[in-house]
Amino acid sequence: MLSSPPMSPDLLDRAVQLLRDGRLVAFPTETVYGLGADATNSAAVQRIFAAKGRPSTNPLIVHIAAEQQASRYAADWPDAAHRLAQAFWPGPLTIVVPRRAIIAPEVSAGLNTVGLRCPRHPLALELLRRFDGPVAAPSANRSNRVSPTTAEHVRQELGNAVDLVLDGGPCEVGIESTVITLCTTVPTVLRPGNVGVEALREVLGAVAVTSQVLSMTTPSASPGQHAVHYSPRTPCYRYADEEVRSYLAKHAGDRIILLSLEAFAPASPLHHVVRMPAEPEAYARHLYAALRAADERDVKAILVESPPPEPRWLAVRDRLQRAARPLP
Ligand code: TXA
Ligand code: MG
Repeated sequence: MLSSPPMSPDLLDRAVQLLRDGRLVAFPTETVYGLGADATNSAAVQRIFAAKGRPSTNPLIVHIAAEQQASRYAADWPDAAHRLAQAFWPGPLTIVVPRRAIIAPEVSAGLNTVGLRCPRHPLALELLRRFDGPVAAPSANRSNRVSPTTAEHVRQELGNAVDLVLDGGPCEVGIESTVITLCTTVPTVLRPGNVGVEALREVLGAVAVTSQVLSMTTPSASPGQHAVHYSPRTPCYRYADEEVRSYLAKHAGDRIILLSLEAFAPASPLHHVVRMPAEPEAYARHLYAALRAADERDVKAILVESPPPEPRWLAVRDRLQRAARPLP
């Protein structure tokens, strides 16, 4: 496995050759690092599932260099898709449309659809342009672990299971793309992200949001409803303001890390506070690195303060619902 300084042309050539050979190349995007393979090559795509330990029922996103390539892989590219691509590509939006047979069936996990995305990172775009084909790429982490936002995270997650890691520095957005399907009567957001629901409605008119995501806007969303995903190894709990005080009082003798939105003076010297950004975009950029750093310390628990149930925090709250359980 090699790593690279940004933008080395030789390494890009090597990356393209590896993709052509059916190998795995991790590359930066503006959201998180992706674990890429040729999306037309079933054997290569199966390597992605094996490297991640990912269930074969979870479909992969296909990355393309420009909207003009979409109709090579989509059986239908409706006007709504064109308008979304015009407004948000290159960028953190995945558009689910009917697929063409050239996309390996494993990519779509047996569905008749494919999620297409044109990422905004210059290194990703250059790789995609040179490869001139569709690159299937989930986040470059082991299944159910925190997505990587640096090349070093990818190496920690996947080691020799990846043939090359292209290093493009830390990711700018920090959480995975918004996923919207156009294969429902009303376009529907399947995963919230940096492209918000209101911005999508400005382009499309009516946009639905899956009920799982919607329940996130109410503070009392029933625990257990959301699969625990993206999680650190250390027990990770989310809390709202005052309830954390009594938890900390009970655990004064335990090493604990808090990711707090506010200044917070802990009573115990074993309780360490990390101050998180108060704006959703900055918070998202730092979230996964903060969870990883906390996970690497020898602590009993990671406590994360829940941001307010406001629409602008939807994507961050979605990731926290998956990473952290309610405070016991
Ligand atoms: O930002 C991102 O989207 C990153 C970077 C690498 O592009 N990729 C990413 O991939 O997050 P992954 O595999 O971790 O998440 C893919 C998501 C899953 O929630 C999957 O269910 C959904 O996209 N998805 C992919 N294809 C789909 C399809 N045909 N229908 C419905 N959902 C799909
Ligand atoms: Mg993922």
